[in-house]
Amino acid sequence: MAIKWKDTYSCNIAEIDKQHKKLFEIGSRIYDLLSLGDEFDRYDEIAQIFDELRNYTIFHFGYEEELMKKYGYEGYENHKIEHDFFVKKLQRLEKTDFDNKQTESLVEMISFIADWITGHILKTDMKYKDFFNARGIY
Ligand SMILES: [Fe+2]
Ligand SMILES: [Fe+2]
Repeated sequence: MAIKWKDTYSCNIAEIDKQHKKLFEIGSRIYDLLSLGDEFDRYDEIAQIFDELRNYTIFHFGYEEELMKKYGYEGYENHKIEHDFFVKKLQRLEKTDFDNKQTESLVEMISFIADWITGHILKTDMKYKDFFNARGIY
């Protein structure tokens, strides 16, 4: 599965789309790394990309949560529960032995991102689109 941005993923809010595109960009780099399928030691690259994924996740969820709180979005609590669930998944992933399970950890990261796109962006993030647009946020 290639991780490519499509217009149907747009939440119609420029800053949010920009951040989501970053997730796709990280995802495609993980995919490329996995596609190499070589026998080289990729530990440093894997550890670095995981770091980026973690930092991005925390930053992006925080950004959305602040925006929802600021405008009194009614779906905030449930939305945050999903964010927290993804952060927990990330903490589990972090316990993977990146050095000895290199392919496995990349596959796990890809599946984390795929779940995030199909299970969260396309369903839960989409729900705030009209709410924010109605308040002049694009
Ligand atoms: Fe999001
Ligand atoms: Fe979200």
